Amino acid sequence: MKALVLAGGTGSRLHPLTFSLPKQLIPVAGRPVLELCLENVRELGVREVGLIVGEHAGQIADVLGDGSRFGLRITYLHQDRPAGLAHCVLLASDFLGDEDFVMYLGDNVLVGDVTAAAERFRAERPAARLMVAKVSQPSCYGVAELDADDAVLSVAEKAEKPPSDLAIIGVYFFTAAIIEAARGIEPSARGELEITDAIAALIDAGLPVVASRFSGMWKDTGTVEELLECNRSLLSELPSRVDGEVDAESVLRGTVVVEAGASVVRSTIQGPALIGAGSRVTDSRIGPSVSIGQDCVLTGAGVTDSIVMAGATVRGLAEVTGSLIGRESELDSTSAPSTHRLLLGDRSRLGLTAGPAR
Ligand code: G1P
Repeated sequence: MKALVLAGGTGSRLHPLTFSLPKQLIPVAGRPVLELCLENVRELGVREVGLIVGEHAGQIADVLGDGSRFGLRITYLHQDRPAGLAHCVLLASDFLGDEDFVMYLGDNVLVGDVTAAAERFRAERPAARLMVAKVSQPSCYGVAELDADDAVLSVAEKAEKPPSDLAIIGVYFFTAAIIEAARGIEPSARGELEITDAIAALIDAGLPVVASRFSGMWKDTGTVEELLECNRSLLSELPSRVDGEVDAESVLRGTVVVEAGASVVRSTIQGPALIGAGSRVTDSRIGPSVSIGQDCVLTGAGVTDSIVMAGATVRGLAEVTGSLIGRESELDSTSAPSTHRLLLGDRSRLGLTAGPAR
C-alpha cells in the first residue's frame, strides 16, 4: 500500500499566517502537523509516500527532505492551484499506478488507532474504506450515511441537510478504482473536484464502499480555534520533562516540558505547557495550554492558550490569550495590562504604548 498525503491548499482561513507558512507546518505542541501525519502513515506500515505540495513546496521539502527521517520515501508532486482532493488523486495517478493507497489530509491530526481499519482494508480490499467520526456540525464536512453493517449508502459534501452526523475524516483507504471515478466527475459549486463526488461515483457503480468509526481525537486544523484545541489536547498528553534550566524562584505546575537549552527565570509555568529549545522565559506567567517554539524570548509576559512560534519575542504583554504568533515576530508593550487575542504572521511587529486617553 502507498500513501498520498495532501499538503497543498492555501490555508486561507489562517491568513495572514499562511501567507508565509504552510498550515501543515504550523507547530502544535511543538511539532508540525505534517510530521505527526507522516508518523501515523508510517505506523500503517507504508513506506512510499506521494506528497502533494503547492506554493510552499520549498519550505515543506526543507523540513521533510526525502522522508528518511521518518522511515519513508517521499515523492513530491506539485499542484499549481488547490483544485480539490479528487484533483490530487488524478495528479498522483502515475505515482499510484494500480496500487492500493491511503489518502491522508496533511492538515488533519488524529490521535487514536487507524491500524485496525488499515488491516481490514488490506484483507477485504473494498473500493473504499472511509474513516468517519460523529460531529456536532456535519454541514461543515463531507458526511456518510451508513447501514447497520457500516456499508456506506450515500455521501454528501457540506450539505445543508446532511444525511447523518458522521463526518468523513481525513484518512481514506482506496483501491485504484477511485482514479477512474475521479476522471468522471465535474467541479463542484466551489470549483473543486470533490473526493466525495468520486466516492459517490464508486457507490453508483455498485462497488463496495465501507466505513470505520474513529473513536480517538480528530481535528482538521484549518482554523485558529481548531489549532488551539489540538494544541491543548496534544500538550496534555506530553510527559513532563525538564532538560533546560529552571531557577529557584520559578514554579512549574502540572505537565511542563522545558527543552534543552531553554531557561526559565522568576516565572510561573502552568502546565500543560512546552518551552522550546533555546527559549528564555523571564518574569513571565506562561500557560496553561501554551507551546513556545525554539529560540523565543518572553520577558514580563503573560500567555495562556496560545502557540508562539520559533524566534518570536514577547515583552510586557500581560494577557495574551487564544493567539497564534508567527515566527520571529516582535511584540512589545509598555501600556497598562489588558487582554490581547492575536493572529500574527511571521515577522509581525506589535508595539503597545501607554498614551493619553482619547
Ligand atoms: C475536506 C473534504 C471533506 C472532509 C474534510 C475533513 O474538506 O472535502 O469531505 O470531511 O476535508 O477534514 P475541506 O477541508 O476541503 O473543506
